[in-house]
Amino acid sequence: METIGFIGCGNMGGAIARAVCKATAPQNVLLANRTPEKAQALAAELGCKSGTNAEAAACSWVFLAVKPQGMPAMLSALMPQLAARKDRFVLVTMAAGLSLARIQALSGGRYPVIRMMPNTPASIGAGMIQFCAEGTTPEETAAFCRLLAAAGRLDEIPESLIDAASCVSGCGPAWAYQFIEALADGGVACGLPRAKAIEYAAQMLAGSASLVLESGQHPGALKDAVCSPGGSTIQGVRLLEQRAFRGAVTDAVIAAYDKTKDMGQAK
Ligand SMILES: NC(=O)c1ccc[n+]([C@@H]2O[C@H](COP(=O)([O-])OP(=O)(O)OC[C@H]3O[C@@H](n4cnc5c(N)ncnc54)[C@H](OP(=O)(O)O)[C@@H]3O)[C@@H](O)[C@H]2O)c1
Repeated sequence: METIGFIGCGNMGGAIARAVCKATAPQNVLLANRTPEKAQALAAELGCKSGTNAEAAACSWVFLAVKPQGMPAMLSALMPQLAARKDRFVLVTMAAGLSLARIQALSGGRYPVIRMMPNTPASIGAGMIQFCAEGTTPEETAAFCRLLAAAGRLDEIPESLIDAASCVSGCGPAWAYQFIEALADGGVACGLPRAKAIEYAAQMLAGSASLVLESGQHPGALKDAVCSPGGSTIQGVRLLEQRAFRGAVTDAVIAAYDKTKDMGQAK
């Protein structure tokens, strides 16, 4: 029987555990957390088990969902147990900036590892998750995709692209929320009640994003389709261009990427 253990049940570990419990029988899932009450409460809600890090590390899939800076101490405590295992298991890390090789080094063996990069919309099944793997079989990769299917869209990419991807879809939600907030401020300035302004802005962004994905059209062509000649929208486009909107967003991605690289070198 395949068992799935989680070490760390915070924002992201909890969100991914929630999705995994939709794809597999929750009895096969065990949650561990430094503050055990957090794992116990989530386990009670999802109908799965809670236990210790050692119990989670005895599962067929071991999801590592602690902060990157907590990973060395947590894995070093589990090293002897992992080394003594005779059965096959896969480690799954979601720690920003820690490479597959680094996770193998910290865990003390060349174990099969999947490195995934989720984002917060995964908590409602609308995530974008990139992943890369080392030492897994095609069957294990396919099984991982089935386990994570309820978390959102999955894409396997080379590890060299993970940092860039994480700066678009991992950091991106923060900038999307800034955009929604700013749109809502504009709506309020024009007389809309705040709650309606936020609802309209958020649904507009969700719908526009779905249209990009479903139509396959270039965002520029979809933008052109909204701009009637001599109309209001093109006036807003003109103003955003004057204020270097697209350049600022592009630079935000590059700034996040530079920081990610710096943090990676510091580890
Ligand atoms: N949040 C995001 O948008 C995002 C996106 C991509 C990747 N990630 C990655 O996801 C991982 C988790 O991030 P997060 O945002 O979920 O952080 P978080 O909310 O702080 O959750 C981390 C959890 O790990 C627990 N923990 C810490 N040390 C532990 C240990 N030694 N043994 C067992 N549990 C331990 C903490 O327990 P306590 O309850 O005691 O604090 C906490 O519940 C990070 O590696 C991060 O890089 C996050």
